[in-house]
Amino acid sequence: MQSFVINSALDMHLHLRDEDMLKLVAPLTSNTFSGALIMPNLVPPITTKEALLSYKERIKEATKEDLFDAHLTLFFQNNYSYEFLNDIKNDIIAIKLYPAGITTNSDTGVASMDVENLRPTLESMSKLGIPLCIHGETNGFVMDREAEFMPIYESIAKAFPDLKIIMEHITTKDAIELLDKYDNLHATVTLHHLLITLDDVAGGMLNPHLFCKPIAKRPRDKRALLKAALKAHPKLMFGSDSAPHPKHKKEACGCAAGVFTSPIALQVLTQLFEEHNCLDNLNSFISLNAQKIYNLSPKTKMIKLIKKDFVVPEIYEYNNENVVPMYAGEKLSWSLVD
Ligand code: NCD
Ligand code: ZN
Repeated sequence: MQSFVINSALDMHLHLRDEDMLKLVAPLTSNTFSGALIMPNLVPPITTKEALLSYKERIKEATKEDLFDAHLTLFFQNNYSYEFLNDIKNDIIAIKLYPAGITTNSDTGVASMDVENLRPTLESMSKLGIPLCIHGETNGFVMDREAEFMPIYESIAKAFPDLKIIMEHITTKDAIELLDKYDNLHATVTLHHLLITLDDVAGGMLNPHLFCKPIAKRPRDKRALLKAALKAHPKLMFGSDSAPHPKHKKEACGCAAGVFTSPIALQVLTQLFEEHNCLDNLNSFISLNAQKIYNLSPKTKMIKLIKKDFVVPEIYEYNNENVVPMYAGEKLSWSLVD
């Protein structure tokens, strides 16, 4: 039977939430991944050392005995002092910047993306070598939000040439093209944006489980993202942006944004890279590129997959929490070996 081994997989953009949802979803990543970059958009968002360290403890409890490193991030504020950042820098992998109100739990994000407004914190981050992750969308027309953000990425990249910047969950050809223009720009791409376009979300019957921010774009965007991922473009990393919301918040009028992909990510990526005869590049895309960009040395964790059908569960549940995964009830052609 055909098999493939993934070595020390890293998910460089992951939402683990808190309480029962954390207990439900964290093991679905920590059982197979060696590490992940954890998003800070809790309620309230993580802005203090105390909140950060206690969240780290709760993640540790939820991931039990698994060989797994949770790399935490802080929620960007434009008035963090140099002393505060110097004190917290060894406990975080990066700081995540959200424009105010752009996505789930980002109301206290930055009101203006003007470089001068961001300068105090960015200057300290640059000096201290703390990477900056950005949710790059304006509040313009939904299909144009990421493209409209490109000049903002450029202005930050130019103003802070020593700051490592990661364009999170890119969805457009524009973002792929910008990657090569500045040495200090990098990016993550999700699984779902390699697979779907707006057609899959809203072209037929509306599929709330594929609704996320940024919204999936056009076929040419998907092609550009896929091409870069399949060749393991060295500035591009896998970041699932797996973003669990309970079923009643997805199957609702006023559907929450986020696609839950943690339990299927490795199987589907293997399937996708195999279909395009690019399996040789998968370990770079899912681990080595992130190791280089973030200077990580993950714990060695070999995960074997075999070419055998796997039917994705309809729902994952724990106590009163539940979440519907992408491809619920569908058959994948690769499975994890226990
Ligand atoms: C994320 C969430 O639910 O926290 N949602 C999403 O659609 N991706 C937030 C985010 O990364 O934008
Ligand atoms: Zn996210």
